[in-house]
Amino acid sequence: MSAKATDKVIVITGASRGIGLEWTKQASLDPNTFVVAVVRNLSTANLLEPLVAGGHVAVVEADMMRPETFAQASENISAVTGGRVDVLINNAGGWFGAGATSSKDMSKSTPDEWSDAYKLNTVGPVFFTKALLPLLEKSAVKQVVNISSFLGNTGFHEATDGGFGYISYSVAKGALNFATLKYHLQLKDQGYTFITLNPGYVATDLTHTQEQKAPLTVEASVSRCKSFVDRLTVVESGGNYSLDGSKEPLVY
Ligand SMILES: NC(=O)c1ccc[n+]([C@@H]2O[C@H](COP(=O)([O-])OP(=O)(O)OC[C@H]3O[C@@H](n4cnc5c(N)ncnc54)[C@H](OP(=O)(O)O)[C@@H]3O)[C@@H](O)[C@H]2O)c1
Repeated sequence: MSAKATDKVIVITGASRGIGLEWTKQASLDPNTFVVAVVRNLSTANLLEPLVAGGHVAVVEADMMRPETFAQASENISAVTGGRVDVLINNAGGWFGAGATSSKDMSKSTPDEWSDAYKLNTVGPVFFTKALLPLLEKSAVKQVVNISSFLGNTGFHEATDGGFGYISYSVAKGALNFATLKYHLQLKDQGYTFITLNPGYVATDLTHTQEQKAPLTVEASVSRCKSFVDRLTVVESGGNYSLDGSKEPLVY
């Protein structure tokens, strides 16, 4: 299955489950959209099968913690999209070790956990974007949406007086916000839009073991994020946004 020349082409990482799977579902309802769902492991991406059968979704493999897989993934994406990508959504992400807990004690975390958090949430999106720039260059749209978090916002931690932990994860998402700004500054004069987007606190596999239950369903979060991204323009480039396109970093 491949994209038609008139389709809007969206690539989304971390599409096997959670927010990425739901975004793939909602986007592929539009007959004029073609979604490339990027997954870590094709053999465990069975939840995507009914969507592929619908004819507007293709699945491509890439491990976001292994940048050496990105060139092949970019080639595979190019093969199903005719060489063009309109919107890249870097959604794959996650937390490790004490960074997956509300512990406020920095000394509970480890160097390996910090490296993993940075590799997945910052290095992955930066270099996956780099691998896809030749395909984005062929588009008139040229949008990159990096899924960050309210935890990546220093203001959120100040406002809650350190009431949240998730330290290594928060710092990695903060670095993603910074990297997104750097891409914006580099490419804003060439028609690109780079933003980060906080999906809120959403009930997914990521959050289901947390003490504080997530108030948002994945359907509601994606619907509110997607309607903002559907109307995104270059004017918003360089910003960090929350649900509905709010600039309010504390929204969750
Ligand atoms: N849920 C929330 O409340 C919340 C809040 C703020 C921000 N976010 C962010 O939203 C994004 C999606 O989160 P989610 O809640 O949907 O999480 P999730 O349910 O745990 O899903 C994570 C997705 O990322 C993929 N992934 C993880 N490591 C990967 C790797 N090395 N290579 C390729 N794919 C990988 C997973 O693939 P596998 O199936 O192969 O593991 C899965 O598809 C993340 O960036 C997260 O930080 C979530």
